Amino acid sequence: MIFPDKIAIGSDHAGFEYKEAIKLYLKRNNTIITDVGTHGLDSCDYPDYAHAVAANIENGAVSFGILICGTANGVAIAANKHAAIRAAICWKKEIAELSRMHNDANILCIPARFVTVDEALELVQAFLTTDFEGGRHTNRVQKITI
Ligand code: RB5
Repeated sequence: MIFPDKIAIGSDHAGFEYKEAIKLYLKRNNTIITDVGTHGLDSCDYPDYAHAVAANIENGAVSFGILICGTANGVAIAANKHAAIRAAICWKKEIAELSRMHNDANILCIPARFVTVDEALELVQAFLTTDFEGGRHTNRVQKITI
């Protein structure tokens, strides 16, 4: 299984413990991680971390990001304000795979309050090891940015 060399990751307080588990998992797979925070369980604002992960993709530091909050809605809404970002909320392995195959998603958004840590790791593996299919999906993806 080939993981990307490097990724950016961020969460709010609701996703903090999941972020730490995902970091351990990815480090075991030799992925270099840029952790934009949060760094503890104190209540904080999810857009701060969504914008920071998006910026790491926009400036070319990484090609993929992972964001976690309670529902995944907040981080996805914030990250998708960036033109270069396609942030996908995923709660099943198949949805994570399809977000790469059909949507060329570049940020995986995980709803920590609705999946287990093991399910989150399965989402990460599916997302980071699945390629964009191209073909008929290329034109559709190009039409997303306005
Ligand atoms: C935090 O309580 C929660 O609102 C946040 O993690 C997220 O679910 C927002 O969309």
